[in-house]
Amino acid sequence: MEITIGLIGFGRMGRCYLNMLQRDKRYRVTHICDPDPSCRALAHELAPNAQLCDNEESVLGAADVQVVLICALADVRMRQIRAALAAGKHVITEKPLADSVEHEWQVVEACEEAECHGLFCTVNMYLLNSWYRHELCRIINSGELGELAIIRICHMTPGLAPGEGHEAEGPAFHDCGMHYVGLARFLAGSEYHTWHAQALRMWSWKDPWWLQAHGTMQNGVVFDITQGFVYGQMSKDQTHNSYVELIGTQGFCHMSHDFKRAWIDLHGVNVTEHIERPHGGKNIDVLLDQMAQSITTGQRHPEMPCLRDSAIASEIAWKMLENARCHEMPAIGNNDELEQIRERRRTMKDGYGLLPRNNKPILG
Ligand SMILES: NC(=O)c1ccc[n+]([C@@H]2O[C@H](COP(=O)([O-])OP(=O)(O)OC[C@H]3O[C@@H](n4cnc5c(N)ncnc54)[C@H](O)[C@@H]3O)[C@@H](O)[C@H]2O)c1
Repeated sequence: MEITIGLIGFGRMGRCYLNMLQRDKRYRVTHICDPDPSCRALAHELAPNAQLCDNEESVLGAADVQVVLICALADVRMRQIRAALAAGKHVITEKPLADSVEHEWQVVEACEEAECHGLFCTVNMYLLNSWYRHELCRIINSGELGELAIIRICHMTPGLAPGEGHEAEGPAFHDCGMHYVGLARFLAGSEYHTWHAQALRMWSWKDPWWLQAHGTMQNGVVFDITQGFVYGQMSKDQTHNSYVELIGTQGFCHMSHDFKRAWIDLHGVNVTEHIERPHGGKNIDVLLDQMAQSITTGQRHPEMPCLRDSAIASEIAWKMLENARCHEMPAIGNNDELEQIRERRRTMKDGYGLLPRNNKPILG
């Protein structure tokens, strides 16, 4: 069975999806929509058989589109998801689900209602589909750590600089950090209970670009999450610091990656083990597979990420940002440094989280 799909938004993520869709023989990309002519020109080059359009109505109105893939920015997301559901399409959307918490919950409601009528909706909460998330949950359930007590997550890269794009997605701790807020909740197997956040306005930007939150889950597990796109923006050779650490009453494990490979070192009660596999990137192949299986069988794939989980992660990330604003939030650095960073990123060929500029495909 062939599944026809239309893409809305052909920037960085749209190109990653196209790349993965072209490798999955179950899908045929029929439409690509982007208001930017240079994005459409690239789309024509990469997917010559797809119809190109500058407005979403052409995709949503096309009778032969079964799935709509929504990867423009959050400011237009709610309208696009609602219109896709109204047109009877299945939906794969990027996160966050909308431009405010209130709108996100309206989107969740609309999608859950649509699921009652046979439409499937999912969101790219890619960490939930990572092999290491599943492996970490398996380790927790195996008892090798004793009882899970502490979750420590850190993700610092020289990523998207302030003012470079994604304004509709909020500061770094929301745009990127919501993934880690979502991950900690799955690892704890519990809802958030309390938190305290400390943030910093790096380069004196109006919003914090580094934030650390710690607190408790309802089941008593404690967490700390550190996220910032502040890690060596001007260093000659860039690198990152990204890990998940689970500490139990008896053992611990540590996960890390270099974006190519990921590994977990388990120091369990009975087992000491190094588990290493390809990183998996944004796990878009997994998401597309879950949607294809759902459509083919008529049963929602049990592991396909739910919009509700995305809305919860987004809401808590916003609340942690709000909490940080209630405390002293120092400003360090200045606009000249930020300008140098932006200028460097404008001309970088290979960097962290670069937005497309040269109309080149991005493979992911
Ligand atoms: N899940 C993840 O890990 C992950 C990673 C990166 C980005 N994202 C999310 O994906 C989304 C896209 O990010 P990106 O990095 O590709 O951004 P981008 O700026 O590279 O691309 C966005 C594209 O949408 C187009 N667009 C704008 N308005 C549109 C409209 N009304 N209809 C159709 N297209 C429109 C723009 O012209 C642009 O080409 C964002 O919401 C971002 O938060 C998610």
